[in-house]
Amino acid sequence: MSLEIIILAAGQGTRMRSALPKVLHRVGHLSLLEHVYRLSASLAADKISIVYGHGGEAVRSALPHLAATWVEQKERLGTGHAVMQAADQIADDASVLILYGDVPLLQQSTVERLLGLTVDGSVGLLTVQLANPHGYGRIVRGQAGEVLRIVEERDATPEERAIHEGNTGILALNGGRLKRWLSRLENRNAQGEYYLTDVIGLAVADGVAVRTTEADGIDEVLGVNDRQQLAHLERVHQAAWAVRLMREGVTLRDPARLDVRGDVQILGQDSEIDVNVILEGAVQLGARVRIGPGVVIRDSVIGDDVEILPHSIIERASVGAGCRIGPFARLRPDTLLGEGVHIGNFVELKKARVAGHSKINHLSYVGDARVGAGVNIGAGTITCNYDGANKFETVIEDGAFIGSDTQLVAPVTVGRNATIGAGSTITKDAPPDALTLSRVRQLTVDGWRRPLKRQEG
Ligand code: UD1
Ligand code: CA
Repeated sequence: MSLEIIILAAGQGTRMRSALPKVLHRVGHLSLLEHVYRLSASLAADKISIVYGHGGEAVRSALPHLAATWVEQKERLGTGHAVMQAADQIADDASVLILYGDVPLLQQSTVERLLGLTVDGSVGLLTVQLANPHGYGRIVRGQAGEVLRIVEERDATPEERAIHEGNTGILALNGGRLKRWLSRLENRNAQGEYYLTDVIGLAVADGVAVRTTEADGIDEVLGVNDRQQLAHLERVHQAAWAVRLMREGVTLRDPARLDVRGDVQILGQDSEIDVNVILEGAVQLGARVRIGPGVVIRDSVIGDDVEILPHSIIERASVGAGCRIGPFARLRPDTLLGEGVHIGNFVELKKARVAGHSKINHLSYVGDARVGAGVNIGAGTITCNYDGANKFETVIEDGAFIGSDTQLVAPVTVGRNATIGAGSTITKDAPPDALTLSRVRQLTVDGWRRPLKRQEG
């Protein structure tokens, strides 16, 4: 039996007050819709249809990588009408799962439980116990606790409004039956809409059992309608990441002040993360990594025992074991550091390979460079890698010592164990094992006097 998933994403999202369609707003690094899509993909769906409406083209073009069938709902006539747009996509013998594109935190285990209810042909309905059910459809049950129907709040009697079991909107059922019931929906209700929820009453009338399961908590089934709800779900998502990292043996000085916007992999225990750290994209952390406050790491691999001091920014870099970075260091894309490298304050590296135990401790720019092992680069050193049109490489071989305030005008090579005198501008290769310097010899002018201020006439 195939699994076909229909994601409803045609909502207008007026309350977001945004030029961006609601489902493109993000939780973590993914749009709301992409969260739901990923869940769908992880359920091994045979087909994923996304019903889009308002701003739909923007949604499609923002998410071209989704392997989904896009179905347009031209008029927003209700959730039942939305599903009708995808009806000819649905196979009669398919198991169909309806998800909402603005409910980003739904858990795979919950959906699997829901799908499990449908194996005997029942309709599976995900419900939630709500302290305040305002705005939700209510689950109306009979004497024996069997589901009879769902009533929308605006159509409910005071007694029905007192029900605390709410409809999450998420349901699973047989494709052929769904299509039959969709064709029987009417819009004679308070909102003049075709309610998908009326399918439940039709199932009961046809003698098909409706079985329910409850979401583990309300956050999992919450939708986003405004920016406050978006912020709430962001916090929920971040709290879940924090718990996950702590369970894997990472100390968080404050779990509420870490943001993960991607996928973090913990490769060893006892790392410690200080406050206000942001981990973006794919980040791997080894064992005993210490990350100081205000550090941003994006798409990088950090080895064991690395120490990253406050306010450093690391992007698409690989940092070898035992390195010490920062404070205020910036590692830009394609920086590869060997073991035990020290990168100090106000040092920027880009497309630079630095081998073991080299040090660039203060105020330097090293770009398009290959730096050997045991190299010491003095304060204020700059690789002049760009002539305004092309970029060139600087090579600094093992054991070289670059004096402070040196400019290395690429392409240029500093040989093994070479020493460059401070303040040099190196435009030609510097031979190994020798001192090279290019500054003017120091000179003292005897008998020179400072000018005196002229007397005003
Ligand atoms: C719906 C349910 C309600 C449930 C609540 C949970 C119905 C009639 N009611 O109510 O029982 O408690 O969700 O949040 O189903 N959408 C479309 N096209 C439309 C209308 C809606 O794609 O024409 C999409 C929306 O983008 C959203 C989802 O369907 O993702 C739910 O729509 P929404 O308007 O939020 O439904 P509610 O009235 O809140
Ligand atoms: Ca809603």
